[in-house]
Amino acid sequence: MSFSLPRGTQDILPDEMPKWHMIEQTARDLFSTYNFSEIRTPIFEYTPIFARGMGEHSDIFTKEMYSFEDKSGRHLTLRPEGTAAVTRATIMHALHKKMTPLKLYYIGPFFRYERPQAGRHRQFHQIGVEYIGEDSAYVDAEVIAMGYHLFESLGITDLKVCINSVGCDVSRPVIEEMVKQFLSQNITKLPKHIQEKFHSNPLRILDSKDEVVQAYIAGMPDIKDALTQKSKDHFFSVLQHLDEMAIPYHVTNTLVRGLEYYTETVFEIVSEHLGAQGTVCGGGRYNNLSAELGGPNLPAFGFGFGIERTIMLLDHLKKNYTQSIDLYLIPMEPLSRDRLFYLMHKLRNCNISCEMGYTNNLKNQLKRADRLNAKRVVISRETDRETKTVEYKNMLNRTQETVPLADLFEVIVSDFDVNESDYIE
Ligand code: HAM
Repeated sequence: MSFSLPRGTQDILPDEMPKWHMIEQTARDLFSTYNFSEIRTPIFEYTPIFARGMGEHSDIFTKEMYSFEDKSGRHLTLRPEGTAAVTRATIMHALHKKMTPLKLYYIGPFFRYERPQAGRHRQFHQIGVEYIGEDSAYVDAEVIAMGYHLFESLGITDLKVCINSVGCDVSRPVIEEMVKQFLSQNITKLPKHIQEKFHSNPLRILDSKDEVVQAYIAGMPDIKDALTQKSKDHFFSVLQHLDEMAIPYHVTNTLVRGLEYYTETVFEIVSEHLGAQGTVCGGGRYNNLSAELGGPNLPAFGFGFGIERTIMLLDHLKKNYTQSIDLYLIPMEPLSRDRLFYLMHKLRNCNISCEMGYTNNLKNQLKRADRLNAKRVVISRETDRETKTVEYKNMLNRTQETVPLADLFEVIVSDFDVNESDYIE
């Protein structure tokens, strides 16, 4: 029997895991510095949450959802993104009543039926944040700065922050009309899927990657000319705060984002090292989503970034991420086996990571210690039986010493600088 995986999915194998853990841990640490708390929502939700949330005309809703009926005929969808689900959870549990603003983050798998290619999967993993219940331009700047800071903390600096404003409820119809008027003379010359968008979601035409379309919209007036004064003030305050924090950005007049819930500021963090899927992180303000989902008026701002695309950027830096253990024990001398085994248990209680080899082939055991990137190795040989000593090898600087078995615990504990009072008997 031969096995295969569904298209667009992948196994994440143990060798890859150190990078995933490093990204997740860096994000968790940084989010806690900015005082965000974790939330976990189900992998699937009732379909209307996403229909209302992301917009019925969005590409994700019309083409990319994994929707199904369960055995009782309920309409369910594997979550394609996190913002609608987190907003649903906020309303359902009245989280905003306990704490406003609410600062939440999430990590997990998401699902979109897209054409798979490098950096684009059908099951992918996103880390997202949502700052809910605050309309201030400071929040937009703070969250964008946090996104930038996150990639800096991962050592990824070769990035561009693109930013724009799509305005509010008042300016949106004006902007849509502006786009339609500008394109109306040439609309029949544009590809069919663009002609469809002209009627359903004209704003999305602006960020089409199609070169023909880009050539047509090149001369279009800036959509920000149609913003209300309040929206313009908001946007320029965000830029001013970013300037003060020395976050580099590019105002990108055609950036509108693919999800319909955005209002005011939108942004993306892009890299030229990702090929066609250049965006590693995207987000913006969404002041109407809570009300759209039947909740209170809760202005909010957030972003999501893809772990797979972040890994592509780390790989481009050619950094090495490997797992290691503190100690590998090789009891070649049978009488010391029990003692080393119980010693291993005590050391683990001191948070010293260790492992023991159970077979009697020294060459193979040393190979295994190397493969595990063990920092230290203990070997008890037949010849050590009389002296009741063991060999204690430092694998990093390739030195070794002979240590009495009776002192081994103390030697290791002080080598790893563990406070013995932390040791749980
Ligand atoms: P999004 O731009 O659709 O935004 O996705 C955010 C990030 O998820 C992308 O920049 C990309 O890194 C990753 N991503 C998306 N689709 C795929 C895919 N098929 N394969 C691999 N990676 C992918 C959102 O999802 C919004 N919920 C973000 C947000 C949060 N806006 C406000 N709050």
